[in-house]
Amino acid sequence: MNQESNISEVIKSRWSPRAFDDTRPVEAEKLIAILEAARWAPSSSNLQPWHFIVGYNFDSCHKDILSILNEGNQIWAQNAPVLVITVAKMTRGDRQNRFAFHDVGLATENLFLQAYDIGLSCHFMGGFSQEKAKEIFSIPEDYEPVAAGAIGYMGKIDSLPEDLAEREQATRQRRTLDEFVFTTKWNNPLGIE
Ligand SMILES: Cc1cc2nc3c(=O)[nH]c(=O)nc-3n(C[C@H](O)[C@H](O)[C@H](O)COP(=O)(O)O)c2cc1C
Repeated sequence: MNQESNISEVIKSRWSPRAFDDTRPVEAEKLIAILEAARWAPSSSNLQPWHFIVGYNFDSCHKDILSILNEGNQIWAQNAPVLVITVAKMTRGDRQNRFAFHDVGLATENLFLQAYDIGLSCHFMGGFSQEKAKEIFSIPEDYEPVAAGAIGYMGKIDSLPEDLAEREQATRQRRTLDEFVFTTKWNNPLGIE
């Protein structure tokens, strides 16, 4: 199965760069547009469990978010004018919402695709301290930090250290459809040509 050529342009063009242009701020209307895109994501029972903590154009919140990223991420993410932490509300009333992370992911992908559609790039990260995020941003008990994100205009590859520049140019890899699309029973590929 190979339907790659049939997917929409914005999905094809999305990738996660590390080179961001630190001289080019993100316009307020573009930031609002990508957050609006997140807002319109589907969610279980329309609970909309997503929240975004936003550090904008190198403000003090940007510094705070940068400070809780793993060192390996700080090296490149520091140049992205917008840094975010996504947060999930884990409960619905007195019950757990088992779709909370799922739905924050949907909102994040909406944000991603809208960003690429208007010329911005995003790179999300799991490499940050959830504990410090809770502390610095006073995140309440029944909420969990999910991921950190770097957003901005793409920069020049030669602004990166050599090892990261190399990774930046590596061919993007994905599993084939047969490896994850099954029918009838587990591991039995659907196999439509
Ligand atoms: C939840 C999540 C956590 C990630 N964590 C990191 C990270 O800590 N550091 C990093 O450099 N990239 C991170 N990535 C980026 C992935 O490595 C990247 O999306 C994947 O390799 C596919 O590449 P592509 O986005 O260019 O298609 C993360 C992505 C997601 C969605």
